[in-house]
Amino acid sequence: MKPKSVLITGASSGIGRELAIEFYKNNHNVVLFARRKEKLEILAQELKDIPSKASVVVIAGDATQIEDIKQALKETIHQLGRIDILINNAGAGLNSFFEDLEIEEAKKLMDLNFFGLLSFSQEALPYMKKQGCGQIVNISSIAGKRGLPSRSIYSASKFAVEGLTEGIRVELEPENIHFTLVRPTSTQTEFFDVEPKGNSYLDQRDRARMTAKQVAQIAYKGILKKKKVITISFHGKLAVVLNTLFPNFTDWIISKVFSHLKKVTVAKGDSHF
Ligand SMILES: NC(=O)c1ccc[n+]([C@@H]2O[C@H](COP(=O)([O-])OP(=O)(O)OC[C@H]3O[C@@H](n4cnc5c(N)ncnc54)[C@H](OP(=O)(O)O)[C@@H]3O)[C@@H](O)[C@H]2O)c1
Repeated sequence: MKPKSVLITGASSGIGRELAIEFYKNNHNVVLFARRKEKLEILAQELKDIPSKASVVVIAGDATQIEDIKQALKETIHQLGRIDILINNAGAGLNSFFEDLEIEEAKKLMDLNFFGLLSFSQEALPYMKKQGCGQIVNISSIAGKRGLPSRSIYSASKFAVEGLTEGIRVELEPENIHFTLVRPTSTQTEFFDVEPKGNSYLDQRDRARMTAKQVAQIAYKGILKKKKVITISFHGKLAVVLNTLFPNFTDWIISKVFSHLKKVTVAKGDSHF
């Protein structure tokens, strides 16, 4: 297979990091993008120890800042000559009951999970159209198909990603630009440690079923096949079907699964963990 140039946002940890390893070891050139430059440089060093014919480029930046996005794409083209795949993976969670949700926190989350992804995609399009092809991979979630208690704004941000992707893929597929939605279920990453805390506490770290490596390996195969949707796990697929056919029953199951969700009082700026 011809090596591809792949820009991965949120490559400094979790699923993005493992996707970078997967693409690099299969001889695809990778651009690592995230805010924590030192983490990206450590990963770049680790990649260079893996036998591969690929190149690695590190670009530090913030996915909510349009100038950083423009610069990342310009630098990708400058270093690698093209961008075949953009993986919009950078994202975060927010744990808060709706009644206590702070609107500024909600807007910040939408800025990253939705508008960051939207801007990255829009800015990548002219390069892909000029090349005559391209693929944009949007990392969604099962929470983008079924809302969850204390995570309603996170779910809303991922529902927005799903709607956007479904709409634009019909617009742009005739121009040979392909879109892939990836829906992981609960995965063992920094996600649950770093998410801004609200007033609900649910330690999901122990509940995370999959490792980031497992998610990345499944996603990698589906991305190369240009699948429109990659729902990572059996549980995820079941949840989507159940929610579509039996929403009341799904509400009941979710109320049981989340029955130990507790309301806690926490000082602003603190972390639960
Ligand atoms: N973990 C799960 O259970 C799960 C389940 C379903 C979907 N997902 C989705 O999978 C994606 C990856 O999450 P993860 O689980 O791998 O979490 P993670 O380990 O916390 O990784 C998040 C990545 O996003 C980057 N990021 C955060 N804010 C950013 C910003 N403003 N600009 C640029 N990069 C930023 C972080 O890097 P820096 O801090 O260095 O910027 C980090 O590399 C997210 O979209 C998430 O919603 C996760």
